[in-house]
Amino acid sequence: MADCRPCEYVMRKILMDCDVGTDDAIAITAALFTEDAEVVAVTAVFGNTFVERTARNALNLVRHLGSSVPVAVGASAPLKDRGNIKPDVSHGESGLGTVTLPDCGGSFHSLNAPAAIYEAAVKASGELEIIATAPLTNIAMAFLLYPELPSMIRGLYIMGGAIDGGNMTRTAEFNTWNDPEAARIAFSSGAPCFMTGLDVTRNTILNEDDARAVRGVGTKAALVVADILDFMFARRDAGGEDAIMHDALAAASALCPGCVEFREYYVDAECEGRYTFGHTFVDTRGRTGNKPNVNVAVASSLPTFKRWLLECIERSARV
Ligand code: BDR
Ligand code: CA
Repeated sequence: MADCRPCEYVMRKILMDCDVGTDDAIAITAALFTEDAEVVAVTAVFGNTFVERTARNALNLVRHLGSSVPVAVGASAPLKDRGNIKPDVSHGESGLGTVTLPDCGGSFHSLNAPAAIYEAAVKASGELEIIATAPLTNIAMAFLLYPELPSMIRGLYIMGGAIDGGNMTRTAEFNTWNDPEAARIAFSSGAPCFMTGLDVTRNTILNEDDARAVRGVGTKAALVVADILDFMFARRDAGGEDAIMHDALAAASALCPGCVEFREYYVDAECEGRYTFGHTFVDTRGRTGNKPNVNVAVASSLPTFKRWLLECIERSARV
């Protein structure tokens, strides 16, 4: 069929920086099959489990789904290692709950994650967009190693922090708590930052009907997502976290127009503090007098998100 897009049409270039991770896996799957965008690299970092595992999960996932995108291994610990990092048990020991992916036996990118991020930015000539759904260590290391990098990035879409609340502590979200110094570097880098925090992602919950619709598509992508959702429902029924799409909403904030509403605020991460360590301070009242540096998610549309995710899965049947 003739392509009726204008000839200057170009696919968006997306890099996913993740700690795969159940909800990271859903975010990557959606991004691989979203419209008008190409995932050019995946970089892995510690977080939900050790980096050796998150990287292997990422590689097995993308190869299982038929993608040859390079996967680079990144940081195994935060910039300032306080020796307090432990895996997030809610994703299970493997990071993927009860879901087992075939071991693809493939190899990782020859570059480490920060270098792979820079390489992707150079190749994309100012068009690279990063979706970061994990501690921001790889991103911060890349910004420190390549000071021109923030100005080469079109958008940095982060799942992390919150205007209010936390899941690691009363005031801190998991990804930011795991590396607040890295979050501070990202927020103050000058790169266009979009932060989708816990207070917004927590409203993005899928249910059994959604899982049935996804499974019904019948592709490998559909079965992976549906199996992860089933793990999440069992976790919820056992008293754990519900099927909250933290990371997939951050992906949607970049890839699904109208899904997430942002407002510009000054944001910083607390790197010290007895009660507030890892908290993202969002200056909603403009009291600091500092210029806004981050677009912060303030609302999202669950129906729009669900439609987008299902459309991505349906597209996996056509590629
Ligand atoms: C974030 O923490 C991780 O457990 C999830 O993958 C998500 O990125 C939510 O706080
Ligand atoms: Ca994650």
